[in-house]
Amino acid sequence: MKAMDWTWGARQRGARAAIVGATGATGVELADILLAAGHPAQGLACFARADGVLRARGLELRVRATPAEVEALAAYDIVFLCTPSEVSRELAPRLVEHGASVIDLSSAFREDPSVPLVVPEINGDELARRPRLVANPNCTTAIACLPLAVIARLGGLEEVVVASYQAASGAGAAGLETLHAETREAAGLPRAPGRPSPFPARLALNVIPAIAAVGADGQSGEERKIASETRKILGLPSLPVESTTVRVPVERCHSVAAHLVTARPVAVAEVVAALAAAPGVEHVADPHGPRPRECAGRDAVQVGRVRAGARGPRSLAFFAVGDQLRKGASLNAVQVAAALLAAR
Ligand SMILES: NC(=O)c1ccc[n+]([C@@H]2O[C@H](COP(=O)([O-])OP(=O)(O)OC[C@H]3O[C@@H](n4cnc5c(N)ncnc54)[C@H](OP(=O)(O)O)[C@@H]3O)[C@@H](O)[C@H]2O)c1
Repeated sequence: MKAMDWTWGARQRGARAAIVGATGATGVELADILLAAGHPAQGLACFARADGVLRARGLELRVRATPAEVEALAAYDIVFLCTPSEVSRELAPRLVEHGASVIDLSSAFREDPSVPLVVPEINGDELARRPRLVANPNCTTAIACLPLAVIARLGGLEEVVVASYQAASGAGAAGLETLHAETREAAGLPRAPGRPSPFPARLALNVIPAIAAVGADGQSGEERKIASETRKILGLPSLPVESTTVRVPVERCHSVAAHLVTARPVAVAEVVAALAAAPGVEHVADPHGPRPRECAGRDAVQVGRVRAGARGPRSLAFFAVGDQLRKGASLNAVQVAAALLAAR
């Protein structure tokens, strides 16, 4: 695996960055990560649907309505699209046409073979050719792929089965608001008025066993993304990947229970040692961990419960938790930006 050093040094701090969709769950997180890395507030332009204000790191940043003319946006050194897919699909090609460097957090271009889909610790070498448009991965996929890549390097991968436990904020700011409102209501407190729920059923005190729409084949949109994106990121186009994606009443951090078969036998101790040494991953020895509440706000994907599987010497299992707003979205995008700006 390629080690990824991400630094936000003078070159990156001197860049003019724009966040489109700055008022959403990933946009706010991105602004927070950039400011924490020392990016000057005056070098960060925030856009959403309408004018407003964004609070991050104790600062009030002005948010402007996204201009209809892309030339104004394309003038920035790096543009982060933290927007719904349909918005990114329309905006990204026009920005690239006008010479911008774009990192898109939506699913719009992830399956496009001409667009790199990058988790820097795994396939950061894709950035060496300085692509104008980079797709940021699905949040659950990024979290699952970091430990999977470590194991693939040790013993190859023949099949992967995952069950996900996905936080409310994975459905954006409205998802988190809904969980808070429903939890208050469940505790007998008055429900504050807010945006409509993005979920198909009540989430508080519940689980919902499908993320996004379910197709005629019975698979959810998230399950399709996990399969296709895992294959693309790991560079294993025929890897069988099966999943069940579940929304749980957790504020932030997605969890995955993974069961896999390697090509060659790998000892559990070898996996644990490799996880401890790998960039972007942290091994957790707690037999009842890792857990989303404790992982929230952390950069590394935490991996625990590493054990032999029941399907012979090539089967393994683990449980991984990652902050999907950070490594599953905004932190990954900032790491990609750091590499692109370093090569300018
Ligand atoms: N949440 C996650 O954990 C996560 C993880 C990985 C990837 N993603 C992807 O990242 C993208 C953003 O997700 P999110 O969770 O941050 O969503 P969100 O909380 O719903 O925020 C969406 C943002 O997009 C803006 N927006 C919507 N339509 C727009 C338009 N026509 N022009 C300009 N801005 C527009 C919104 O502005 P207003 O506030 O003005 O409406 C808001 O700032 C999505 O594609 C999502 O699938 C999300």
